[in-house]
Amino acid sequence: ESTLGAAAAQSGRYFGVAIAANRLSDSTYATIAAREFNSVTAENEMKIDATEPQRGQFNFTAADRVYNWAVQNGKEVRGHTLAWHSQQPGWMQSLSGSALRQAMIDHINGVMAHYKGKIAQWDVVNEAFADGSSGARRDSNLERTGSDWIEVAFRTARAADPSAKLCYNDYNVEDWTWAKTQAMYRMVRDFKQRGVPIDCVGFQSHFNSGSPYNSNFRTTLQNFAALGVDVAVTELDIQGAPSSTYANVVNDCLAVSRCLGVTVWGVRDSDSWRSGDTPLLFNNDGSKKPAYTAVLNALNGG
Ligand code: G3I
Repeated sequence: ESTLGAAAAQSGRYFGVAIAANRLSDSTYATIAAREFNSVTAENEMKIDATEPQRGQFNFTAADRVYNWAVQNGKEVRGHTLAWHSQQPGWMQSLSGSALRQAMIDHINGVMAHYKGKIAQWDVVNEAFADGSSGARRDSNLERTGSDWIEVAFRTARAADPSAKLCYNDYNVEDWTWAKTQAMYRMVRDFKQRGVPIDCVGFQSHFNSGSPYNSNFRTTLQNFAALGVDVAVTELDIQGAPSSTYANVVNDCLAVSRCLGVTVWGVRDSDSWRSGDTPLLFNNDGSKKPAYTAVLNALNGG
């Protein structure tokens, strides 16, 4: 196959991209995105600050721009993200305790109702574990409502839209030896044992010199899949975009039957949240980088 999405579809997977609504009017960007990818994640437009700028007043203008573009172009959509310590609107940042807990529940219900039956996977909770070696939860206003906030979010989400796969999503959880990976593993194992509704784990995969790719990523994916959840590479970008590392990540996903697909976090380097790292598959002029060819070859079976 000659595009990333079609190549991934050969094994029943997708190859997705993060889309920014305000770039869709750029024809180079939109042409590449429409041609190459068969799954879309809104880079910012479905986040809490974007979708509920005032409490109880939902705004899906930008989110729907991404969603409608995706559907019109035949792509499935990953929802990102419902409960997160970051990109909270001001009103939510100032809440705590049971008021914040209820606001989180109301937010999940409001967003998921709008997209009911339309989202393949939702990142229900994003980035709830602390960085470093503690293996602890991240301190946040949500965590301070009680550490059961994550399972409450998942139970709320299941009731709101039973058709969506419900994912936990995080970064620096790709290396099996990292404490954060182990902490996330214990949480997912506990959720599966207690019947908390979780269907998938997203590995963001923002690789750089400080948190490099390690070949034990495949072990990580396999070990999570063995718990009975699907896995996905959800926000892939790699400092310098080395072809070999890109191919390795794709091959790791292909090696795990429960790996649903791979999403890269932007189209061209100039679209990246860390454009100085030139971490993506397309040059600023829209031409394909060597890593693009490496990914396409891997998806085509070698
Ligand atoms: O939209 C405003 C614009 O009106 C304003 O003029 C401009 C001035 O700074 O800011 C614009 O908002 C920015 C937004 O991106 C859209 O470009 C925010 O400041 C900026 O903080 C925001 O960054 C996003 C970041 O999440 C915020 O946490 C990145 O685009 C986005 O790629 C990044 O994505 C996250 C994932 O959601 C979760 N995992 C990590 C990943 C990378 O940080």
